[in-house]
Amino acid sequence: MHGTRESLAPNVPPMNRRRERARGLRARAHAQLHGIQQTLVNGSARTRAKLRNRRVITRVAEHEDMLTGGPDLRHYFEVGESALECIQEGLREAGAPPPKKILDLPCGYGRVLRYMRAAWPKAEVTAMELVPDAALFCADTFGAKPVLSRQPSWLSTGAGAEYDLLWCGSLLTHFDADDWEPALRYFRDRLNPGGVLIFTTHGDLSIDLLAVIGPRSGRRSGNGWATTAWGATRREWPRRLESRASRSLTTATTTARLD
Ligand SMILES: C[S@@+](CC[C@H](N)C(=O)[O-])C[C@H]1O[C@@H](n2cnc3c(N)ncnc32)[C@H](O)[C@@H]1O
Repeated sequence: MHGTRESLAPNVPPMNRRRERARGLRARAHAQLHGIQQTLVNGSARTRAKLRNRRVITRVAEHEDMLTGGPDLRHYFEVGESALECIQEGLREAGAPPPKKILDLPCGYGRVLRYMRAAWPKAEVTAMELVPDAALFCADTFGAKPVLSRQPSWLSTGAGAEYDLLWCGSLLTHFDADDWEPALRYFRDRLNPGGVLIFTTHGDLSIDLLAVIGPRSGRRSGNGWATTAWGATRREWPRRLESRASRSLTTATTTARLD
């Protein structure tokens, strides 16, 4: 066995090997330190989220892809919390009672669903997604009923109906204009009379960008998600839907109540 290491790296002088080893150790120590820092930062984000809403469940999926503010979970929880505020405002404006049956489409890994679960602990919540893993995570973690969606979503059959609230965060925003009507019809058909649909659209910033750069054509990725579609800001309302709209900078939330 003597000389094995030399024979594995015959051309690297011993001094360089020592330097490489030291470099490797430093990189590992740096990665570990970063990991510890991240754990502390996220621990504090979770504590903060709990202090602001003691009922919110702070488990985050390993594959969560909505960490849009970076790996720090503080922003992630803030987005969920602000979505709940929009939803509550929409329900108030529509004069609707607290929902007993809720459809979150698309639920993702529960960024917003966790806040709806906290607000209405006894509600029956359906988590509908194209990504099976995401719907299952919401079922496991927030006690939702998982439903696998299809592409396009209005061909899905598993969600049932008679919902009091349908929350749609960031789906229509990625659709071409032609897809809006069938999607809205599908939503309408999921609702109870008096049920409320709340969905996001692009806000003023996106509309301004659209004016500057023009609509870009949508490109479909592996899971069928249109990754670039700024254009879907116009919509045609299915009859029987009344609308009230409130806009913020990047995202606008629209509420419609089925009469
Ligand atoms: C921008 S994410 C938003 C997720 C969630 N609403 C949130 O705020 O975290 C959009 C989600 O839509 C899902 N999606 C795309 N097409 C879908 C479809 N036809 N039916 C259901 N979900 C779909 C994607 O898998 C992705 O998780």
